[in-house]
Amino acid sequence: MSFYENKVLPLLINSACSTRQVMKIRRQVVPRATGDVLEVGMGSGLNLEFYDREKVNMVWGLEPSEGMRLKARANLNASPVEVKWLDLPGEQIPLEDESIDTVLLTYTLCTIPDWQAALKQMHRVLMPTGKLLFAEHGRAPETDIRKWQDRITPIWKKIGGGCHLNRPISDYLVEGGFRIETLDTFYMKKTPRIVGHMYVGEAVKA
Ligand SMILES: C[S@@+](CC[C@H](N)C(=O)[O-])C[C@H]1O[C@@H](n2cnc3c(N)ncnc32)[C@H](O)[C@@H]1O
Repeated sequence: MSFYENKVLPLLINSACSTRQVMKIRRQVVPRATGDVLEVGMGSGLNLEFYDREKVNMVWGLEPSEGMRLKARANLNASPVEVKWLDLPGEQIPLEDESIDTVLLTYTLCTIPDWQAALKQMHRVLMPTGKLLFAEHGRAPETDIRKWQDRITPIWKKIGGGCHLNRPISDYLVEGGFRIETLDTFYMKKTPRIVGHMYVGEAVKA
């Protein structure tokens, strides 16, 4: 892994993902997690402070980047819930079938190279009664903004650790075998529209 990926990118991602508005979204989504949780692409652990220790048993923190896991150290030390690392990508989740109550996906589906394989794994490990909580940025509804998302994504991916601006998140979830139970879409304030179109909600196994 290059110096940029291991040292610079974790700093940039941590900073971009901890703005006031992003933290507000986390505060709305993460407390809904219950039981045994799988957080896919845990990054620098910015969700940890929002887990409800009364409702969560433990959290599997799946994160393939060593630089991100190192960056998470402080948040991990302050975590209200027990966290166990899985140093693998979402395409290779090493957990038992139907063993997870909540899958949490925040700002990660944009980045996973083989999103079909990763969603298949999330679907496999989720209990039939489980839920997938998501807060992801992705494809905008307006044609002109979409055009720019498509144009800029090839360059953006190179500097942004593989992040795509143009993924239709809710379509991907449905294609991955999930049924969307709640979905809120909106633009984040003070964020360029090509980056800030959000999909926030809850899905279950279809
Ligand atoms: C923009 S960051 C978001 C981190 C965290 N979810 C958050 O909300 O702050 C995207 C994360 O996805 C991770 N990632 C990259 N490829 C992945 C993969 N194949 N499976 C799971 N996570 C991956 C990156 O290392 C990075 O930590």
